[in-house]
Amino acid sequence: MFSFFKKKKPLPEAHDLSVLKCDMHSHLIPGIDDGSPDVDTSITLIEGLKKLGYKKIITTPHLMADLYPNSRTTILNGFDKLVKALQKRKIDIPVRAAAEYFLDDHFDSLLEKDEPLLTIKDNLVLVEFSFASIPIDYKQKLFNMQMKGYKPILAHPERYAYLHKKFELYEELRDFGCLFQVNLLSLIGYYGKNIEAAAEKLYKLKYIELLGTDLHHERHMENLNVHLLHQKVKDIADNLPLLNDSL
Ligand SMILES: [Fe+2]
Repeated sequence: MFSFFKKKKPLPEAHDLSVLKCDMHSHLIPGIDDGSPDVDTSITLIEGLKKLGYKKIITTPHLMADLYPNSRTTILNGFDKLVKALQKRKIDIPVRAAAEYFLDDHFDSLLEKDEPLLTIKDNLVLVEFSFASIPIDYKQKLFNMQMKGYKPILAHPERYAYLHKKFELYEELRDFGCLFQVNLLSLIGYYGKNIEAAAEKLYKLKYIELLGTDLHHERHMENLNVHLLHQKVKDIADNLPLLNDSL
């Protein structure tokens, strides 16, 4: 029957992060680093990422000899527990485990011993520097890992304050083969104005290959749910050939 009621217009597209498809930086394996402390929190955070429109999650616990002495085994065992909990609760989203490798001496020894690293995909490995200073031998470390066939993705380059005043080092790091992963929350000033400005500058220079949540806890999740951030992400995804959806 003909209806006088106008067909409902489709709702405007959700202001979400679905354009990114895959999140490749988070701390969701329970109890093994400074991220989620237990399975229930991990589940809540994963459901939150789903609601934001993500279709795939690659979670990346810290592997840092002094503070978070994880290994391939601790990560994969923890991941196994997480997968079982997701299955039990029928939460349907592909999740994979990789790692965020701190570039310390332990990292050197993993390379020396030819221990297979947990990769984001293929040969891509997420690495981080200390927030205090760049590793003295960062060139050697980046060279060594590439000699072993890995390609470094530098986690949150915008967050290393010591690079802000030496912006040429960013270019050097890229010349040394680093891809850059910027944290979403940096884009809205969550870590401070200087970090927001550095992220903006990296964007202007087209020095961003990946965007990640670096999700640790509920407070991060609340801040990821911000309209302004979703607009900025759409803008970046429109203008840069991000790799997120290829993972
Ligand atoms: Fe992280």
